Amino acid sequence: MDIIGQFPLFYFPEYGSAWIMGVTGTIHILASHTSVGAAMLFAFLAYKAYKENRTDLYSYMKRYGMFILIFAYVIGSITGTGIWYTATAASPRGISALIHNFVWVWATEWVFFVYEVIGVFAVVYFIDKIDKKTHLKLTFTFAIASVGTLALIIGIISFMMWPGTEAYYTTGSASDAFFGINTFPHMFLRVGFMIMMSGIIGMVISSSMRKENEALSNELTRKMGFVSLLGGFITLFFFMWYMGTLPENAHAVFNVTKESIIQNRIILAILFSLYFLLAIVRPKTINTVLASSMVVIILIAGLWPGEKLRESMRKPYVAGQYIYSNQIVSRDVPGKRIKGELPVIAEKGLLQVNPFVPENLKVITAENKHEAGKLLARLACSNCHSLEKTGVYRPLKERLTGMDKESIKAILYAIGAGGMNYMPALQLPEDEYDALAEYLASQKY
Ligand code: HEC
Repeated sequence: MDIIGQFPLFYFPEYGSAWIMGVTGTIHILASHTSVGAAMLFAFLAYKAYKENRTDLYSYMKRYGMFILIFAYVIGSITGTGIWYTATAASPRGISALIHNFVWVWATEWVFFVYEVIGVFAVVYFIDKIDKKTHLKLTFTFAIASVGTLALIIGIISFMMWPGTEAYYTTGSASDAFFGINTFPHMFLRVGFMIMMSGIIGMVISSSMRKENEALSNELTRKMGFVSLLGGFITLFFFMWYMGTLPENAHAVFNVTKESIIQNRIILAILFSLYFLLAIVRPKTINTVLASSMVVIILIAGLWPGEKLRESMRKPYVAGQYIYSNQIVSRDVPGKRIKGELPVIAEKGLLQVNPFVPENLKVITAENKHEAGKLLARLACSNCHSLEKTGVYRPLKERLTGMDKESIKAILYAIGAGGMNYMPALQLPEDEYDALAEYLASQKY
């Protein structure tokens, strides 16, 4: 019997499961990037406190530390676990691919993470309780552990875009999977962003200290302005390098929305540069309300579109350029003894080979044709397109408006032939094409 390794479909109407992933991921990134950025910043501040005998900096570190402990660490841990849940539901084979390639990398990352979590408590608690030098060493190890978590996870999420080396497919080795051509630009892009975030959050903290110590508050706001500006430059620089290391399909998707993305990035870069310059030149003007609003802006206008773009550019894949978003393996990966599933689907049909398709829909008949078409749309398209007329996630209604069955079929043939390289080259037997086209046409998009 020909069966492909599928899981039950997690179908999320209107928004699509990728949105749920995106929302959880974006919040997680804000929290995790802030905490790693703060760890680097703490190393810098602890060094200054030790070298220049600036014990007054400790009060800032303490307040900042408490803040990230409560917000970044709690939110980061909850959403981190949340990502596992959502990814397992939305993309079981994507997450499975990552586990099968990187289980030891992840195990190592968790060791670093445990150190990081204990570290943040220790760094905050021991301020002023142990000698400066020991505290400095503690802060350094905390920073190293934090950056370590980033360095390890980056290889994994870069692999989602592209293993980056052809060798991986034959060797199946974790290091060939980990060190692709976009791993390092991606890593430094995020390091830059983390440094910037540590400054942006840092201004929330420094501006809240104005009542107690105005001079220190202003000095630190100015410093955070410099830190953010530096982080921003690093981010932009590596973003450009990163864009040059992406696979072809990523550019195909990027080109569709290029102008609006670039416009959005330029506006953001100008807005934030002005904000950072203001912090440097007139630190007094930065108050807690403004500083907090900028955090919200970076979350909604910076991170959310950025993560959405990264998700889009991976299309049609979800991981390693061999697992399509709709959970089908597109090619052989001999190094992992994985067989591509496209030929068997083209021959037997998706309904036949997916073990979770109900018995009464396995064979298309005149009676079940509509139901079968609906299920095919969910299996083949819903991972990337909302099917509902009111759907918001790359909705099919905008892409199939006013088309009849025959023209939809023509599109399905083109997709199947690999003519649109941002969509899975999923070929179906004629009866499935027919049922799917008929169902989509009946929606009267
Ligand atoms: C892996 C994700 C993915 C899957 C699965 C997918 N699509 Fe797409 N589709 C895209 C992307 C990305 C675009 C291009 C960007 C856009 O239109 O927003 C697109 C565009 C389209 C377009 C517009 C074509 C164009 O280039 O103007 C149509 C029509 C379409 N998809 C139909 C479908 C149908 C029908 C299915 C199911 C058989 C499907 N798609 C499955 C990702 C996907």
